[in-house]
Amino acid sequence: MSTIDEIKSRIDIVDLVSEAGVKLRKAGRNYTGFCPFHDNKHTPAFVVWPESGTWRCFGACNEGGDIFKFVMKRDGLDFKEALQKLADRAGVELKEYVRETPQQREAYDHLRGLLEDALIYYRSRLFENADVLGYLRQKRNLTDATIESFGLGYAPPGYDNLLNHFKDKYMPQDLADAGMLSERDSGGFFDRFRHRIMIPIRDEQGRMAGFGARIVNADDNPKFLNSPETAIFTKGRLLYGLDRARKPIRAADQAVIVEGYLDVIALHQAGYENVVSPMGTALTEDQLRLLKRLTRRIVLALDPDAAGQKAVLRGLDAARSAMDREAELAFDAHGLLRSESRLQADLRVATMPDELDPDEIVARDKNEWQKIIADAKPIVAHVMETLSAGQDLNDPKIKNEIAAQVLPLIDDLGSPMERDTYRQALARMLRVDERSLMATQSKGQVVRRKPRKNEPTRAESAPVIALSPGRIIEAHCLSVLTQTPTLLYRLDRELEAFGLSPLAAEDFEYTDHRLLFEALKRATGQDEKEYDQFVLSQITDDLGALMDELRASAKKINSSDDKFLDDLAARFLDLRRVRAMDSVTQLKFLQADDQEQGGENVKIYIEQTMRLTRLLRGLDQARLKLSKH
Ligand code: GTP
Ligand code: MN
Repeated sequence: MSTIDEIKSRIDIVDLVSEAGVKLRKAGRNYTGFCPFHDNKHTPAFVVWPESGTWRCFGACNEGGDIFKFVMKRDGLDFKEALQKLADRAGVELKEYVRETPQQREAYDHLRGLLEDALIYYRSRLFENADVLGYLRQKRNLTDATIESFGLGYAPPGYDNLLNHFKDKYMPQDLADAGMLSERDSGGFFDRFRHRIMIPIRDEQGRMAGFGARIVNADDNPKFLNSPETAIFTKGRLLYGLDRARKPIRAADQAVIVEGYLDVIALHQAGYENVVSPMGTALTEDQLRLLKRLTRRIVLALDPDAAGQKAVLRGLDAARSAMDREAELAFDAHGLLRSESRLQADLRVATMPDELDPDEIVARDKNEWQKIIADAKPIVAHVMETLSAGQDLNDPKIKNEIAAQVLPLIDDLGSPMERDTYRQALARMLRVDERSLMATQSKGQVVRRKPRKNEPTRAESAPVIALSPGRIIEAHCLSVLTQTPTLLYRLDRELEAFGLSPLAAEDFEYTDHRLLFEALKRATGQDEKEYDQFVLSQITDDLGALMDELRASAKKINSSDDKFLDDLAARFLDLRRVRAMDSVTQLKFLQADDQEQGGENVKIYIEQTMRLTRLLRGLDQARLKLSKH
């Protein structure tokens, strides 16, 4: 889910509008009240649709939108400011979205080229060193083809090998910017990687990002040394092996996350290519998101000790920041569960038997890996199993402890049905009655604001639906237009042929979509810059992220295909139709209210209803013609 969708899913528009002092009253499935944006305190003309998270004023303003538009209008903010405000309210962190400008791109490409050169250098040093090569071949069972294709290399001992090797080709500062040199306090540079096995790390597009480097000498420290964070190496946003694992992950519809570089390499060599690993840091949601684009089924293959009870408890206690070593895929069940539900992913945990690492498992028996992965358990089941392993489940104290650890996790689950299932499973496992289990549960974890007097009360469990059908259709249409902006012309011509108005910002109800559409539209109306460049120059970073996301979700389309254009037109017609119908229904309620109050708005409402009826008739005719195409 994008940040924007996440904010939408956490903020209830009815709460937001009520808090702005608008008294809302239930009318059908929606709420009506006095519009806070224009002066008319006699009859309500302001409608809120909780399901889509949108609002509209049918009175003098005749305007509408989503939560962002509401806050922009009420507080006079621009989109970026409104986004920040609502993100704070929702407790969602807005991450700086870094998009490459052409200048940056050039600079980054320079660094990437430099890293490619470094790789070649390290590789030739490896093939000169029989000991290290022997270690990789014999001790790690790597074939020459694997060593070659993963680009493994060796950094010799000494502080200036790389520095000297590239002294005529690269400035030391550039080598340092790429993370290959460290700077002395007294000034001057020296090689960062010395006497280590070099493992090139690429981003998901296969571009060089940095290195991971393993010790050769067992006494050296630390065991692994990575590139420092650089402009192109951000550990939390990269997954080792993803460039090669992309296709296999798609094909298998499953991604497996292991903990070590060498495990990734060994598994790929054994024919399991849907495997990636983080780089010695805890798994981040960004990384899960990278995978989520390829599959929703993700398996965490945990080290025996990380999966062990100590680690689980540590994860639960959220004390992992206190860990001295940043290594280990810290298992934080709460964090993982929340990510799972936010990303609507299917996260499972597989544990390695016999204290073995994945590379040792495939060395022992290639086929065993398959079984281990097939046996992966959902997170809560995994925690239940690990906590109870070897425990005396007849001891009431232990029952209590386990329940206290697991119940909060069950609360994190997104679906009520899943929660029920796991509560039952836990009760069964502990051999207690489900009701007494519930009694152990700490109360009052979720603080819900008490409704104020006069404030409409809703069913407590009513979820706030972020991804309403309208939003999904808008996103789809926009993703197509983002990919091929020139379709706009053809679409407008088609709409015109049906006697309908061309696409307009008003067709998009969601502020982020609307702003992006406006930028696209302006882009097609100019010929100074390339469309993409132009659009990017018009929008804020967050919308750049939206654009990337929409583009990623757009399948490669054949935009010259007329069928395709018809389909797109049909979706827009549907979008308009659903909205018009909603408005007509709502206008009936408003009109009835208005009549009771003396009929002040009656003229406006009748006019609007007539306009909508005409629109609906036109839409129906167009739909009919389209279906005959
Ligand atoms: P081998 O021991 O050679 O099999 O390597 P491994 O990849 O299995 O290493 P290990 O299980 O010790 O650690 C797993 C992963 O954690 C490594 O691939 C590194 O990414 C990370 N890691 C381990 N030790 C360190 C360390 O000292 N520093 C850092 N930054 N990361 C580490
Ligand atoms: Mn290992």
